[in-house]
Formats: sequence, C-alpha cells, structure tokens
Amino acid sequence: MTKAVILISGSGSNLQAFIDSVAAGELPVSIELVISNNADAYGLQRARLAGIATDYIDHRNFASRAEFDQAMMDRIDLAEPDIVILAGFMRIFTAEFVEHYSERLVNIHPSLLPKFPGTNTHRRAIDAAEKWHGVTIHFVVPEVDAGPIILQGRIPIRHNDTPESLQQRIHRVEHRLYPLAVKWFAEKRLSVQVDKVLLDGERSDMQLQSFDL
Ligand code: GAR
Repeated sequence: MTKAVILISGSGSNLQAFIDSVAAGELPVSIELVISNNADAYGLQRARLAGIATDYIDHRNFASRAEFDQAMMDRIDLAEPDIVILAGFMRIFTAEFVEHYSERLVNIHPSLLPKFPGTNTHRRAIDAAEKWHGVTIHFVVPEVDAGPIILQGRIPIRHNDTPESLQQRIHRVEHRLYPLAVKWFAEKRLSVQVDKVLLDGERSDMQLQSFDL
C-alpha cells in the first residue's frame, strides 16, 4: 500500500477529500500522518476524527527556513512515505527539501499554471477576463508553483462570478481531481520525462479535464 504524508495549513477540505476517497475504497493509499505548521488548522481536527496521526511543527520556532525544513524532513521520514502531499500548505520549501522528495512531492495550486502562480488567483483570473480558470496538480520543483504537471481541471468563468463563487467551484474540482492524481501515482501509472508527466507512458486527454460547474 502506498504510504502518504499530507501537509496542511488550514481548513483541510482537500485532506477531507483524501480521507473520504480512502474510506470509500477508491484510493489505495494509507494516510500515515498529517502535519500542520499551524496548531489551529481545522484540518488537524479532520485527521484526528479519522483516526490519523497528526503533528504540528511551528515554523516560528526555527531561526531559519533550512532548520524548519530539516525538522519537517526528520518528522516526515519517520513515517517512511512513498508520497508527500501538499494540501494547502502555505510555506515555501528550500531546494534541499524539494530535492529530498524528488518526484514524490506533489502540490495543488488553484490556477491553470503557468498562468497565475502565487496568491489571489481567483481575483486575478477574473480581472484578466480569462474564459477558463482551474486547478493544477503538479510535482514540486524548487521554483514556486512550477514543476511537471500531472493533471489540470478547468471550469468556465461566468460573467457574474466573484472570487468567492469561483473559489467554491474550484474547490469542487480540487476535491475530485487531487485524489485521482494520487491514485494514478499509487498505481504507478505516472512517469516524468524531462518537464512532462506521462500517464501510462503517454500524454493523455485525461490530464486536462473540463467541468461544466
Ligand atoms: C486549496 O484551494 C489549494 O488549491 C490552495 O490552498 C487551498 C487549501 O484548501 N493551495 C495553494 O494556494 C498553494 N499555492 P483546503 O485547506 O480546504 O484544502
């Protein structure tokens, strides 16, 4: 069974999607540990309710990013994960951390990368009069919000959308697609070729999905 460690900072609705997929027998993964850098993250509660081990490592207790990342690595590695899943973890990692988990560290970002890296992606997509907005699930590389793309999901931006309405629909796409991407990983169907992720050895239509939400 593929062992996962999930890192969160906030609500943990994506964590919940993983918990629910595992419980439904749809995701062949064992969630070994959930770590937050924020003691009040609601996601920690979700994990505890599901009987998953949790830990909390406060970045403010460390003099440098490198020391925080080392503490994270030490804790994560005790769980011997096959995959480390960033699910709304709002800290940027050092290159050392990223390279330590090369090709087994995944992130979800609320935009159609390479468009709109960074924050406030929903507002920026509306302001730019984009037709589509979406989510990107990708392997993490040292550059922020970049890295080989596993799967993207998109929805049309409606004329009356606000950042909040868009965010709500984007969340629904995230909750469907993040477990699917991790399922592909667990089934060993993903391979990375230079900067591209292949599914079953080729670039597949399944890696860009449109939703009429
Ligand atoms: C998600 O929307 C995710 O795309 C975003 O944080 C949210 C976490 O929600 N991630 C990033 O912005 C990473 N750059 P959740 O805590 O409810 O899963």
